[in-house]
Amino acid sequence: MTEESSESVVRRDRFSGGPARGFLSSLAADERIFEADLAVDRAHVVMLAECDVIDDETAGDILSALDAIEVEGHANLPDGEDVHEAIETAVIEAVGPDGGRMHTARSRNDEVATCIRYRLREDVLATLEATLTLRETLADVAAEHSETTMPGYTHLQPAQPVTVGHWALSYEQAVRRDTERLLEAYDRINVSPLGAAAFGGTTFDINRERTAALLGFDDVLENSMDAASSRDFLLETVQALSTLATTLSGLAEDVIIFANRGFVDLSDDYSSTSSIMPQKKNPDTLELVRAVAGDAAGGVQGLTTTLKGLPRAYNRDLQRATPHAWSTVDAVLEATNVVSGAVGTADWNEAALAAEAGAGFSTATGVADLLAANGVPFRTAHELVALAAERGGDAAAIEAAADEVLAEPLEAYVDGETLEAALDPDHSVASRDSVGGPAPEAVRAQLESAADVLEADTDAVDERASGLEASHDALRTAVMAYV
Ligand code: ARG
Repeated sequence: MTEESSESVVRRDRFSGGPARGFLSSLAADERIFEADLAVDRAHVVMLAECDVIDDETAGDILSALDAIEVEGHANLPDGEDVHEAIETAVIEAVGPDGGRMHTARSRNDEVATCIRYRLREDVLATLEATLTLRETLADVAAEHSETTMPGYTHLQPAQPVTVGHWALSYEQAVRRDTERLLEAYDRINVSPLGAAAFGGTTFDINRERTAALLGFDDVLENSMDAASSRDFLLETVQALSTLATTLSGLAEDVIIFANRGFVDLSDDYSSTSSIMPQKKNPDTLELVRAVAGDAAGGVQGLTTTLKGLPRAYNRDLQRATPHAWSTVDAVLEATNVVSGAVGTADWNEAALAAEAGAGFSTATGVADLLAANGVPFRTAHELVALAAERGGDAAAIEAAADEVLAEPLEAYVDGETLEAALDPDHSVASRDSVGGPAPEAVRAQLESAADVLEADTDAVDERASGLEASHDALRTAVMAYV
């Protein structure tokens, strides 16, 4: 063994962690970035050889060792404080002391930051795709039910009739913004910190743009201190995921309530039963979706409090920041897929919806609007209809209230037939045809914009996914020149 390698073994023995070894180690959690670290190692070694920092033969030996380590898998790595150290140890075991040249001109600090970004973008892409599927599912429900009248609520009290289509598109449009937020987060994740070294740059004449390109990053993070230590990309991503989870939790709650009222029947695949009450069919999947919003909010909280007040540059606290992102993205991705499945397979009970659509005098606003459009000041009309509501809210109650409130009889403003129409929930829905409203034609217009934006966002996601695919091929080709 040469002098340099025995020295490194001596230092590793001295700082092997003692009783705190397990506490210091992130090796188990680093399984998540095992593949990422191999890719980062490969790109770095290729670049070092291209820049003549290491010779081609050494590069080939290291790159071959990395291929063998990949086949062995994370579980068979030698012990180490983290995956970076363990892979380096395995490379040195295979190649000899020259394997230690892999870590020239870098640090675990820029290495881990690069690995996290490399892996997280895949998870964010998967979540982006899940939001697209959910939007498509919601649009399909809306297309099928653009004329299915249902009660609409504020304060959970019957408010105005709407349609199932209008309801579904209200979430489709919210999830659109979740897609946008995640796309923005993706673009800020997808920049390379590699080459920042510990935080202070390096004396070696390296090519940071080259490693960035080999790893599919759009750009390099310029300032080395920022590159090695900033984790705002994690926070931004977890916040965007938390916002998506909050959107999903509202949707889940709506469907839970609708199921409770017999408006919707979830498929058995997305329901559970009781271990004691044989008749039960419960919306457990959606209750779990509702709870995932709590997990995601916890992720934001955990990450924010871990990052708050960290000085420049690298601090080991960062090791415990990362898992908040993994647990959040896993939970929110799964919840998004479950919502698509549950909503996409649910049956809407049109008869039950129609029976309840007019309950609680939910057409009252339309009656007040009708009076206001025919000469009664809106505030007077509001008072008149409120009085009628107290007396049952039918045509007779409205006429009686008009006699008390208006100078002339009701017929002077609206005829009986028009009034009856205003009291009909379907008519009420059809009459609210303002932009974005619940009228079937307004819902169909929203469906068109939903399809247009979905297509554009699908292109944006596909473009990013194929950029990653192309970089995987480019890296493999570059490696093949040495092995
Ligand atoms: N496992 C560490 C992490 O996740 C890698 C970086 C260790 N760097 C150091 N200076 N101790 O952050």
